[in-house]
Amino acid sequence: MTKSLAVSLYLIALSLTSIPVSSYTFIGCTDIHKYKPQPNDPKAHYAGGTSAGCATYCSSLGTPYFYNQYNTGTCYCSSVSPSANQYTNGSGDQAGCEGSDYEIYAMKDHIKSFKLEGCYTTITTSQNPGSKPTLEACFASCPSSKSVIFSPNSDTNTFDCKCDPSANINSPGGGTTTCGEYGWFAYSRSFSDRRMEDKRRLDKQMVLDQHVEECQEEEEEANGTLSDLTKVVVETVIDLCFV
Ligand SMILES: *[C@@H]1O[C@H](CO)[C@@H](O)[C@H](O)[C@H]1NC(C)=O
Ligand SMILES: *[C@@H]1O[C@H](CO)[C@@H](O)[C@H](O)[C@H]1NC(C)=O
Repeated sequence: MTKSLAVSLYLIALSLTSIPVSSYTFIGCTDIHKYKPQPNDPKAHYAGGTSAGCATYCSSLGTPYFYNQYNTGTCYCSSVSPSANQYTNGSGDQAGCEGSDYEIYAMKDHIKSFKLEGCYTTITTSQNPGSKPTLEACFASCPSSKSVIFSPNSDTNTFDCKCDPSANINSPGGGTTTCGEYGWFAYSRSFSDRRMEDKRRLDKQMVLDQHVEECQEEEEEANGTLSDLTKVVVETVIDLCFV
């Protein structure tokens, strides 16, 4: 039983680590000239350039950002967010960045509870923190706002920063534009950080419940047809499922 207990604990650990605990937020595009990965940045490849694969990999390593080159499937986990002058123009996430440009995503707390609503030419808000050196500083200056809006200014290498207590994006007479330098990236909060925590806990519980349920079903199924061969299978299943 010691061995099966070990197997069970291993399975629990496995199911906990394989849950996509992290949501991730698109924060822009950069290119191979403006962005060079740090020498020790973890690197991976995902067929089809899927950002979900890159997110799962980097979230297991705990890095707050990742850079995903959609057309080659190359993924870099990073602790560095883009500076304003690293931005290139692109229509949005999931292959929206041009050619061999990288999609950049944040998994950092606070930023990751926001979702990109679109990019705009003009935005009106009630709170205007103004020019900030980093994206983090912009989001940090709007701690309880339901929307946060920034514009990368490559001349000054700073982010113009606005926010609002409402989640509605107010773009009078403006219109949507391609995301990139000088455009306004508009985000609204999709989950509170508190609700993210609750959801994460619920996801874990669901996976555990599901695991136990699957095991009972497998056990019953295996018991139905008891040849010598299936006996071994049954025992293995019971062993693996001992929780
Ligand atoms: C990116 O778009 C902005 C405005 O939408 C424009 O001013 C800028 O010149 C564009 N940059 C490039 C490199 O095309
Ligand atoms: C399957 O069979 C074994 C031994 O024959 C028994 O101990 C076990 O309780 C059975 N499991 C189920 C789910 O029927």
